[in-house]
Amino acid sequence: MELQHKLLLVSICLLLCTAVAISRPEGEAEALLRWRSTLLNSSSLSSWSLANPTCFWFGVSCDAAGHVTSLRLPGAGINGKLDAFYSPAFQNLTRLGLSTILDLSSNNLTGVIPYQLSKLPRLAVLNLANNHLTNPEYGKLSPMSSLKSLSLANNDLNGTFLWLILNCTGRLQQLRFLYLHNNNLTGGVPEALGMVSGLEYLYIGNDSFGGPIPASLGKLQKLQILAIFNADLGSTIPPELGNLTSLWAMDLSQNRLIGSLPPCFAKIQTMQWFDLTENNLSCVVPPELFTNWTRLDWLLSLSGNNFVGPLPVELGNMASLRFLDLSDNHFTETVPSNIGNMTSLESLDISINHLTGEIPASLSCLTNLHYLFLPDNKFTCTISNVNGMELPTLCQLNHLQILDLSHNRLSGKLPSCIWNLKYLQMLDLSGNTYNHD
Ligand SMILES: *[C@@H]1O[C@H](CO)[C@@H](O)[C@H](O)[C@H]1NC(C)=O
Ligand SMILES: *[C@@H]1O[C@H](CO)[C@@H](O)[C@H](O)[C@H]1NC(C)=O
Ligand SMILES: *[C@@H]1O[C@H](CO)[C@@H](O)[C@H](O)[C@H]1NC(C)=O
Ligand SMILES: *[C@@H]1O[C@H](CO)[C@@H](O)[C@H](O)[C@H]1NC(C)=O
Ligand SMILES: *[C@@H]1O[C@H](CO)[C@@H](O)[C@H](O)[C@H]1NC(C)=O
Ligand SMILES: *[C@@H]1O[C@H](CO)[C@@H](O)[C@H](O)[C@H]1NC(C)=O
Ligand SMILES: *[C@@H]1O[C@H](CO)[C@@H](O)[C@H](O)[C@H]1NC(C)=O
Ligand SMILES: *[C@@H]1O[C@H](CO)[C@@H](O)[C@H](O)[C@H]1NC(C)=O
Ligand SMILES: *[C@@H]1O[C@H](CO)[C@@H](O)[C@H](O)[C@H]1NC(C)=O
Ligand SMILES: *[C@@H]1O[C@H](CO)[C@@H](O)[C@H](O)[C@H]1NC(C)=O
Ligand SMILES: *[C@@H]1O[C@H](CO)[C@@H](O)[C@H](O)[C@H]1NC(C)=O
Repeated sequence: MELQHKLLLVSICLLLCTAVAISRPEGEAEALLRWRSTLLNSSSLSSWSLANPTCFWFGVSCDAAGHVTSLRLPGAGINGKLDAFYSPAFQNLTRLGLSTILDLSSNNLTGVIPYQLSKLPRLAVLNLANNHLTNPEYGKLSPMSSLKSLSLANNDLNGTFLWLILNCTGRLQQLRFLYLHNNNLTGGVPEALGMVSGLEYLYIGNDSFGGPIPASLGKLQKLQILAIFNADLGSTIPPELGNLTSLWAMDLSQNRLIGSLPPCFAKIQTMQWFDLTENNLSCVVPPELFTNWTRLDWLLSLSGNNFVGPLPVELGNMASLRFLDLSDNHFTETVPSNIGNMTSLESLDISINHLTGEIPASLSCLTNLHYLFLPDNKFTCTISNVNGMELPTLCQLNHLQILDLSHNRLSGKLPSCIWNLKYLQMLDLSGNTYNHD
């Protein structure tokens, strides 16, 4: 009897204990461990153990109440999928109104992006960049009304532009940063992007969108960076983009853009970086750009287009610019001496044009120059020239690393002071008629 009684008690306890275990919802720690158990390589997560408080686990941040608020594991060597990541236990994340950060970028995550991630409440930053993730089931995504930053760059997303944007437009008003570059997205840049009115950074290059640049992007009054490079865009540049008066960087390089540069871009006085390299743009460059872009202090590249006309004297206004590339166009006539006012220039490339006359002596004022590319023009000058650029004047550019004067019509005698340029690594005078000492 005694033994039977004991057995009964034990089995009742077993039943009860099991019942408790079944009904108790999965906690945050268990949920994280369950996900870890699905990973192929989780050696960086060795601190994840019930023996340690969850808040001390590698990559985990908590609020004062001990609830997990953020998971930051960039470049942690994680190998596996996200299928088992979501748990209802995360519903309590950010109960105190803190914003949630989920950063699993630069790992080796494969498989689909689980739509359940969109159910994480108050998710503010979702960074899954630099993995091998594929499209989520867009139809099942919930609107992520707290999302401020979304990065899915450098993954294996394909098909038409994220339905996430199309399907949640109007409800993604918090979104400020969107990075989708380096995927295989197609089907054009949607007009609807113009409705995501809080956007500040838009990086969607190295995709195969095709189609035009939507004029609706001009409505993004807070946009600071517009980067749609190498995206097969084939259209004119909509003048509406001139309304982007918060913009400081525009990169539309490596597309098939045609037509002219809208003069109203002069309204964007905050411009610091302007890159239209390798398009099919033509006509004269509006000089008012150079008059008004006085803060342009980084890069201006119009290389690889069909721009015509003389180089505008207004170039001289851009005294803070460091990198200027006007190569491979159809610029004609002489180089204005005002170019000597661009005293911050570190790199100047005006090669492969139809520039004539003398290389202006004012170039010797550009004492910060490291790179000077003037090949494939029709520059003429001789050592005896007084107004034109004499090579002894070039000798004043004592930071020069590369000096390329090849394929012009330069003649005379090469002065020996050129060998005093102590950083010079490359000097190309081929295709001229210089005499050596
Ligand atoms: C697992 O990842 C770590 C880096 O976190 C790496 O050192 C280790 O070689 C990887 N192990 C395997 C089996 O891939
Ligand atoms: C969330 O928090 C509430 C209140 O503390 C609690 O009753 C509930 O069980 C928690 N839910 C989960 C899934 O942890
Ligand atoms: C990344 O994951 C894939 C698929 O799981 C695997 O074949 C590959 O070896 C992993 N790469 C690295 C660098 O761990
Ligand atoms: C977008 O949302 C609509 C309505 O919820 C849905 O019918 C449609 O399938 C979604 N689009 C995609 C591509 O999932
Ligand atoms: C993306 O496109 C490139 C080039 O077309 C191709 O090599 C690659 O396999 C594609 N990736 C996916 C996931 O479709
Ligand atoms: C997108 O990629 C998946 C594999 O991830 C592939 O099965 C599908 O055919 C691709 N779709 C398109 C439109 O390229
Ligand atoms: C775009 O793709 C090119 C070529 O694959 C690569 O060199 C470049 O770094 C990419 N740009 C960005 C911003 O990732
Ligand atoms: C935007 O630019 C276009 C063309 O330049 C102009 O017609 C329009 O009035 C501008 N809109 C706003 C809101 O400034
Ligand atoms: C240049 O900037 C001024 C404001 O300083 C502005 O009034 C003018 O319209 C701009 N020029 C052009 C051509 O947009
Ligand atoms: C550039 O435009 C010209 C006509 O203006 C056209 O003949 C040429 O094929 C275009 N080049 C490219 C690469 O699209
Ligand atoms: C630019 O340089 C020219 C001479 O090369 C000079 O006359 C002019 O005042 C300079 N302009 C500015 C804005 O510095």
